Amino acid sequence: MSVFVEALQGRNRGRPPIWLMRQAGRYLPKYRELRQKWSFLQLCRQPDLIAEVTMLPIRTFGMDAAIVFSDILLILEALGVGLQFQDATGPLIERPLEKAADVHALPRIQARESLSFVSEGIKLLKQTLSVPLIGFAGAPFTLASYIIEGKTSRSFEKTKRWMYADPASFHQLLDLLTDQVIGMLEMQIEAGVDALQLFDSWAGTLAYPQFCSFSLAYLQKIIQRIKGRVPLILFCKGASSLTTELTSIGPNGISFDWNVSLPALRTVIPSQIAIQGNLDPQLLHAPLNVIRAEAQRLMQGMRGDPRFIFNLGHGILPDTPVEAVRVLVETVQQGESQ
Ligand code: CP3
Repeated sequence: MSVFVEALQGRNRGRPPIWLMRQAGRYLPKYRELRQKWSFLQLCRQPDLIAEVTMLPIRTFGMDAAIVFSDILLILEALGVGLQFQDATGPLIERPLEKAADVHALPRIQARESLSFVSEGIKLLKQTLSVPLIGFAGAPFTLASYIIEGKTSRSFEKTKRWMYADPASFHQLLDLLTDQVIGMLEMQIEAGVDALQLFDSWAGTLAYPQFCSFSLAYLQKIIQRIKGRVPLILFCKGASSLTTELTSIGPNGISFDWNVSLPALRTVIPSQIAIQGNLDPQLLHAPLNVIRAEAQRLMQGMRGDPRFIFNLGHGILPDTPVEAVRVLVETVQQGESQ
């Protein structure tokens, strides 16, 4: 039995499992080599390359879980709004939505059908992978922000203007995205993933009432549909003050960013919910002894917690030294120093 699955089931008695968000990515020299030959989207579309990139960090560092190499924005591409990834600026939607009529004009299709390469990649992985595999999707609010802004935003001006001025059509958009997300998650379960993570990266930018109606309500709907099939971990960056709300919708685990104390959060989070996180990704630029000390501090704080999963508080940064990742994984897998 894997230590990651045991932690999700609340049965882990030893050192915590560790995996890192964005563990398969640009900080790996072998990934950068593959990117000389293929664009990011080309990598995402080929099952054998999905499997190869997913396995790179497992082969290099031996994390306790793998995450499918893919992207939350592929759903938007399937909806026909045009998706590009540019090296300097990140994702770009060619035809962002601007008004209610644009929502109604979206094709009535199931994204999972045009994204079957994700399912093929998962099936290949399940034949060879020695650790559990995590599937994922973006949450409806975060996806809506990309399809409206057209790119990663700082202020979410267009998204919020639309949300406040025309909540009805904003809800229609969220409903439509929720259906697509559920379809993608079900496809990944059917293909064999062992757990799921739902990324609501930008929900933390919402005001409280809007967080409840435009993010939380949809997360709840998704969780209800997936419940009892595979464990689901929720990641809502910047929403650690909304712990009561997040626990109320019944995820199996919650992933936290680095500005909260996990031991303190454990006193309010019910014991049947796993806690994942939460080192600052920038810590991986620190001297190796500092990385070891901070990893030890976090492990000591969560000592004896059968549902703790070691991770960063957000994705690993592209310029992270490989040696830092090696030392972090080793430190956690050796367990607490006495
Ligand atoms: O974690 C993993 O290793 C699995 C694969 C994965 C990727 N993106 C690969 C990727 C996952 C789980 C994601 C999630 C994702 N994608 C999120 C939610 C998590 C978060 O970071 O908040 C979001 C918001 C996206 C959208 C996205 N994709 C952005 C904003 C960018 C560009 C900026 C950046 O951080 O790289 C991407 C590109 C992307 N997604 C890359 C990878 C490996 C880099 C592509 C490249 O240039 O090679």
